[in-house]
Amino acid sequence: MQTGGLLGSGRSADVFAIDDHWVLRRYRDGGDVSAEAAVMAYLAEHEYPVPRLRNPASAGGSTAPRTDLVMQRLHGPSMLQALLKGMLTAEEAGAGLAGLLHRLHSVPARVSDDPVDRILHLDLHPDNVMLTSDGLMVIDWRNTQEGPPGLDWGMSALILAQVAVGNTALATPARAVLASLLAHLDPAISLGSTDSGCLAEARKRRAADPSMSESETHLLDEAVELILELTPSRP
Ligand SMILES: Nc1ncnc2c1ncn2[C@@H]1O[C@H](COP(=O)(O)OP(=O)(O)O)[C@@H](O)[C@H]1O
Ligand SMILES: [Mg+2]
Repeated sequence: MQTGGLLGSGRSADVFAIDDHWVLRRYRDGGDVSAEAAVMAYLAEHEYPVPRLRNPASAGGSTAPRTDLVMQRLHGPSMLQALLKGMLTAEEAGAGLAGLLHRLHSVPARVSDDPVDRILHLDLHPDNVMLTSDGLMVIDWRNTQEGPPGLDWGMSALILAQVAVGNTALATPARAVLASLLAHLDPAISLGSTDSGCLAEARKRRAADPSMSESETHLLDEAVELILELTPSRP
């Protein structure tokens, strides 16, 4: 397919402009987009803020591996860029992420019969949210699965906490966004403790993530401690 310039490049995919309305997202490692395409089409039907697919009818309908996804081009900065430019406060960013998680978990599961399960994003952090004129939109559904909502909260918190306990310039804003996210934690959610529950499961998954560097993995214990410290205690 003829494409225009590279719009963005994350850990696993390159995103090219097709025109003003559409982008092509392509996995560099040959990953298959079928599962996430089916989830994105379903979420769009439920009015969740995801980019529209150009061809939603074929989402999940083909068994052939597909590395390419054509979707609505979003215009605007990522939540991370907006935060760093001062267009958004850390409190607003954390509240925004919490709102997106809460909304996502209010959509009925697509495949699971377990009444607890919902669609989870499992990588919802400020670089996977874009600020558009239609509000916040969630991209990068590569890790999506169904499961208990607490796992999604645990993953988002852990991603922020790993940055917060690191020694990059993003540590301070990440800590403030994390504090805000946890202040808005859905009262129905329990993250568990160091050893059990959703946060422990999130830690296990992050530790097994091959895209994480060794220095990032080393920060996991400290990150879990920070989350437990910042989680508001409930009566
Ligand atoms: N629908 C879109 N419209 C405009 N830009 C996008 C869109 N989707 C992704 N991008 C850009 O491409 C980057 C990488 O996309 P993403 O889906 O997050 O891939 P990765 O899995 O590699 O992180 C994003 O940070 C963003 O800048
Ligand atoms: Mg991404």
